[in-house]
Amino acid sequence: MDLVLGASGHVGRTVARRLLEQGRAVTVVLHRPEQAAEWSARGASVVVLDVHDTPSLTAAFSKVRRAFLLNPPASPSLDVDNEERRTVHSILRVVQGASLEKIVVQSTYGAQDNPHCGDLGSLYAFEQGARETGVPLCVMRAAYFMSNWFGALSTARQSGVFPSLLPKDFKAPMVAPEDVGELAARLLVSSVEETGTYSIEGPETYTPEDVATALSAVLERDVTVDEIPRSRWPEFYHSHGFCSEAAQSYVTMTGIFVDGRYDRPRTPLRGATDLQICLRHQASISSR
Ligand SMILES: NC(=O)c1ccc[n+]([C@@H]2O[C@H](COP(=O)([O-])OP(=O)(O)OC[C@H]3O[C@@H](n4cnc5c(N)ncnc54)[C@H](OP(=O)(O)O)[C@@H]3O)[C@@H](O)[C@H]2O)c1
Repeated sequence: MDLVLGASGHVGRTVARRLLEQGRAVTVVLHRPEQAAEWSARGASVVVLDVHDTPSLTAAFSKVRRAFLLNPPASPSLDVDNEERRTVHSILRVVQGASLEKIVVQSTYGAQDNPHCGDLGSLYAFEQGARETGVPLCVMRAAYFMSNWFGALSTARQSGVFPSLLPKDFKAPMVAPEDVGELAARLLVSSVEETGTYSIEGPETYTPEDVATALSAVLERDVTVDEIPRSRWPEFYHSHGFCSEAAQSYVTMTGIFVDGRYDRPRTPLRGATDLQICLRHQASISSR
């Protein structure tokens, strides 16, 4: 039995679908009960739980041999650094006690040992803790998700403008989360000897101006970027529902990314999906 944590999310849904298509027995872990019927209809066993609930998570892992693990992004209304370490701890306690032959862990470009830099810090802790379990492990370090721009689709559809904390002409490695999910599904079913760290980004780098061009094509209207200067990042995060601790942590994370204060992989794997295709696909889903 394979298990997919966060199967309703951007990455998890592709992982679970690919495993089911191969005829594998799959348990999907969901957070909201209303999503259960859709996955049962696809042939999955369904468990609905909160990852803070270690006993329920333990029960879900009882017959599982391989697992795709992600740490759910915490609500920014909470202290994300504490919250995300709590969920990392809960997940890893369960992995430690389960009889697993292989795990695939979702991480990020820029993962680093720093207590207050958003998921760069919490996913580094996740990687380290997963190594310490001794279970054969594939870590996937993914670039900036193209799905981070899905909010810009609705903003730009209405106003023709979307905000960007990244400078307009900043070339960033980005990847479609579906491509990350494809890689995760492949690594999960491959030999237990196939382990290690895998970095993945998309076919090319993109600037926020490229995002505006892609949105213009998808929405068939002029779209421009409103660049938020660094001095206004804290205010921007606060105005989007972040508490003070979360805003500070995300400001630090954004600075690390924009300043390139991390080791960029020299020979990453490359997903095939380009930015415009990814945004077009999302626009077609959200207009249904
Ligand atoms: N955004 C980026 O640029 C980026 C880059 C690299 C890596 N990552 C990391 O990749 C991972 C996956 O990201 P994603 O975009 O696929 O996330 P996502 O779409 O938000 O998916 C998260 C999944 O976890 C579920 N979930 C949320 N809270 C939960 C809880 N308390 N208990 C159980 N399940 C819960 C969600 O269910 P509901 O939606 O139903 O609540 C959803 O299925 C995250 O760890 C993220 O930090 C992100």
